[in-house]
Amino acid sequence: MPTIVFASPKGGAGKSTSAVVLSCELARSGVGVTIIDADPNRPVTKWGRLEGRPNSLTVVGDVTEASIIDEMETRAAQVPFVIVDLEGTASMTVAYAISRADLVIIPVQGSQLDASEAAKAIKLIRQQEKAFSRRIPYAVLFTRTSAVIKPRLLRHIREELQGADVPIFSAQMHEREAFRAIFSFGGTIDTLRPSQVSNLPAAISNARAFAAEVVGMLRHDANGAAA
Ligand SMILES: Nc1ncnc2c1ncn2[C@@H]1O[C@H](COP(=O)(O)OP(=O)(O)OP(=O)(O)O)[C@@H](O)[C@H]1O
Ligand SMILES: [Mg+2]
Repeated sequence: MPTIVFASPKGGAGKSTSAVVLSCELARSGVGVTIIDADPNRPVTKWGRLEGRPNSLTVVGDVTEASIIDEMETRAAQVPFVIVDLEGTASMTVAYAISRADLVIIPVQGSQLDASEAAKAIKLIRQQEKAFSRRIPYAVLFTRTSAVIKPRLLRHIREELQGADVPIFSAQMHEREAFRAIFSFGGTIDTLRPSQVSNLPAAISNARAFAAEVVGMLRHDANGAAA
């Protein structure tokens, strides 16, 4: 079953946040999801210990460079979706996780610095493709963007990536209080109360659109592989 890896050597790009939001969205209807928290700082494990985690969502911490591949393979045989959250540096764990991914999501904030970090992640994916003689689908996800303002820099980065044939999600993870709040309150954006954060419905529809696009992309890749 598909394994989705969040990777970007840029710290704070939005990997853990987007990974948890996607996982909760996939688990919402009771579908089994396992998040492998491969970041030694264990941000997802800490979230998972709070109240409100969906019943069908399991968080696996305690993963090392030596165990990441076995963990990914074992979990993928057990549940429909495995999500891997990685640390924001280059490491063997990151390379191993990418080598086994069905989809690598590269979160990028709208700055030039982030875009060059994304280029590093893409280079690593291409190296792993060569090393393991397999295609590894990936796409860039813009994070912490404004739902209203479309800055020129972001447009420039998008055009640059498109020019280099880098796939980009149409959905963006907009800057939303709800996406931060789940790490304090626990649970999912569906268990937050409107009194706890502003504009909850917008965050919910944002998360739905992102998850739908991920599922569509996996389906498309699976069909492509079968053709
Ligand atoms: N869509 C979003 N809306 C609001 N805040 C966000 C969003 N995405 C990320 N953040 C905030 O940005 C910060 C960094 O996000 P996050 O921890 O997800 O990044 P990361 O890539 O996992 O970082 P690291 O490389 O350190 O693991 C956090 O404070 C998080 O709350
Ligand atoms: Mg993180």
